[in-house]
Amino acid sequence: MKAIVVTDQAAGTGGMTLTERPKPSPAANDVLVQIHASGFTPNELSWPSSWTDRLDRDRTPSIPGHELAGVVTALGYGTAGLSVGQRVFGLTDWTRDGTLAEYAAVEARNLAPLPGDVEFTVGASLPISGLTAWQGLFEHGRLQAGQSVLVHGAAGGVGSMVTQLALEAGAYVIGTGRAGNRQTALDFGAQEFVDLENDTLEDVGGVDLVFDVFGGDIGQRSAGLARDGGTLVSIAGPGARPANGLAIDFVVESDRAQLGEIVQRVRSGRLRTSIGTVSTLDDAVSAFNPTERVKGKTVIRVRP
Ligand SMILES: NC(=O)c1ccc[n+]([C@@H]2O[C@H](COP(=O)([O-])OP(=O)(O)OC[C@H]3O[C@@H](n4cnc5c(N)ncnc54)[C@H](OP(=O)(O)O)[C@@H]3O)[C@@H](O)[C@H]2O)c1
Repeated sequence: MKAIVVTDQAAGTGGMTLTERPKPSPAANDVLVQIHASGFTPNELSWPSSWTDRLDRDRTPSIPGHELAGVVTALGYGTAGLSVGQRVFGLTDWTRDGTLAEYAAVEARNLAPLPGDVEFTVGASLPISGLTAWQGLFEHGRLQAGQSVLVHGAAGGVGSMVTQLALEAGAYVIGTGRAGNRQTALDFGAQEFVDLENDTLEDVGGVDLVFDVFGGDIGQRSAGLARDGGTLVSIAGPGARPANGLAIDFVVESDRAQLGEIVQRVRSGRLRTSIGTVSTLDDAVSAFNPTERVKGKTVIRVRP
């Protein structure tokens, strides 16, 4: 099968190569998916899981990309819950070969049915940003209607999902980002916007929940904005902690029920994904090494 592989961590996305790899076999509880569309997160090549397996053994050449939408073509021993021919989407294991390929073997529990009226490219754009937003707001942040949420990077992949889901849940949403991202964040539903280049973050006052995607100095300063009993949820690594509140750093996990909630919202127009570029597997290496800045997620349409 055709696949993108990486072998050299120092080379980053510049080291991606289109090549032939053996078609994977589904292990117990896996499904084999013929991939129609694939999503890749540029900084996943800095994660150890892209290079070694769970026992820290070298797994190069590895196939990057962990989001997929496609069709089940085979079941591993004991696999239940999905069937051959079914349209699926989801998030694959960080330490196994990924989705920038014609096929991937994936644990069935990491996938959810993809309704027939949702395009594969849309399905492949949803898992990481959608699940991260859902888990940060509702599992870790325990968001309630009427609470206020500060959403960093509100125009970005994760932040735009956080903004929309928080608003729908009845929260008051304050987005942040660069000056040029103000209108995008407002269009996703943010009720206020803090321009991190020109405004003073501290003027926001106290909020019930901070959703941090940046870490560093902004993360530290944001911890001070969580009200007593408030929560700082971060996806940027552990660090800042509110004086009288909770700090939770997490890594997104796949979840079939949550994928179902997310895709239903997309179908009904309550949730909008932010796809910037759609490319092919043949052109994926150049798509992930753009010469100009690209807004929105780059999704690879693996099957025309
Ligand atoms: N722990 C986890 O499970 C998990 C899950 C998903 C993502 N992540 C991480 O979370 C981060 C965000 O992911 P994403 O997909 O949302 O990225 P993204 O789509 O690039 O969004 C980031 C947003 O923040 C803005 N931004 C970046 N730096 C800024 C700065 N210094 N000041 C103001 N605005 C700034 C960006 O604006 P521009 O586009 O103008 O730069 C963009 O709107 C990434 O580092 C990603 O790896 C972690």
